[in-house]
Amino acid sequence: MTRLNVAIAGSGVIARTHAGAILRHPGLRLAALADPDPQANDQLASWISEQGATPPARFASLGDALAAEAADLVVVCTPSGTHADLAEQVLAAGAHVLIEKPLDASLPAARRIARAAADAGAAGQVCAVTCQHRFDPASVAVASRVHAGNLGRITSAVASVPWWRGQQYYDSAGWRGTWEHDGGGATMNQGVHTVDLLLWLLGHPEEVFAYTGALAHERIEVEDVAAATIRFADGALAVLHATTAAYPGLGVRLQVHGSQGSAVIHDDHLEYLHTAGGPDPSAYADGPDQSGEAVPPSELRGAGKPDDAMVTGHLRQYHDTVEAILTGRQPGITAADGMLDVAVVKAIYLSAHLHRPVPVPAVLAGDFDDVLAAVEGSAAAVSSAAPAQGAR
Ligand SMILES: NC(=O)c1ccc[n+]([C@@H]2O[C@H](COP(=O)([O-])OP(=O)(O)OC[C@H]3O[C@@H](n4cnc5c(N)ncnc54)[C@H](O)[C@@H]3O)[C@@H](O)[C@H]2O)c1
Repeated sequence: MTRLNVAIAGSGVIARTHAGAILRHPGLRLAALADPDPQANDQLASWISEQGATPPARFASLGDALAAEAADLVVVCTPSGTHADLAEQVLAAGAHVLIEKPLDASLPAARRIARAAADAGAAGQVCAVTCQHRFDPASVAVASRVHAGNLGRITSAVASVPWWRGQQYYDSAGWRGTWEHDGGGATMNQGVHTVDLLLWLLGHPEEVFAYTGALAHERIEVEDVAAATIRFADGALAVLHATTAAYPGLGVRLQVHGSQGSAVIHDDHLEYLHTAGGPDPSAYADGPDQSGEAVPPSELRGAGKPDDAMVTGHLRQYHDTVEAILTGRQPGITAADGMLDVAVVKAIYLSAHLHRPVPVPAVLAGDFDDVLAAVEGSAAAVSSAAPAQGAR
């Protein structure tokens, strides 16, 4: 098999997970690293050497890497506010691109790259967004049953991302916790994976109502806690809770309920599944749990996460991306999917600011772009003048 040459743009924290996954994929060769910070490049290159692999060439910019190395696939692992610009550069150079979540920090930029991706897709170029949890066996087992109608009519969902990030996390890089480069706080950076799963399972979001707060961190422009409700096109209702202020940090939980079944995913593992056509529920106090029949034991709650769980998740996404490149099919998560994820998170911020429900299709279409720019601009101005309210 001819291996595809991969370049990583941004040699920071998540780049190491990507490098680990690329090194484990038989169809990929890690050819280049591009980061204006030479230390970040050097640290990642020496880690790659420690894994027994040839260290890739190092460049100070994506442009230099594209000019010097024939990259078939570029992985964008930079601060979120740079994703669309860099991905556009990759598509213009004729390569495929895998963009870390979220698609971009700004909705207009996300819209722009989604349009460019649609054009490039017509020419056979793949533009995929990293949302590795869609490939978790638990997510796949639940989604396939939801989409086949095995849970009946989907009526509701409850999703919670109760994480903790210390102040040093936000202080560790200037872009974290800013509107311009993070695009939001706990909901955009940490919660967007769960938003993506909710949309995958429940369909098209119609309206959002939300509250947000910045309660446990200083020097951030964005929220560290959000509570939102989402109404979907076919009537299903979801509750979303996302926070980086839940010490010491607990597992992500996603419950989906339908007229004939329910599913619970806890920390990426399948905790509970009941679908139509299974054993008679009346024989069981809590309904028969079919989760053990749906996924391997290692993917059931209580199995424990392997040390390299992050790499495994990303590796699954690389299998999807490479297959999309080789067969010409759409990737599992398209730029259009990523744009919808960003639009829902922005609708949450708009609703919290306006104190009223916000229609997602209008946010997606750009009707709220001016309000959003004002919200993000004014919050940035306030936060540079004073610490976040309620901070300790
Ligand atoms: N999928 C996941 O589970 C997951 C987990 C963590 C982070 N992420 C995403 O990955 C992205 C990066 O996060 P991180 O924690 O690795 O950040 P980081 O700050 O650790 O690393 C970002 C790197 O990008 C470099 N950089 C900045 N501008 C650049 C440019 N124009 N060209 C090339 N390099 C540039 C910086 O110098 C830095 O080394 C974010 O969008 C984040 O949301 C995803």
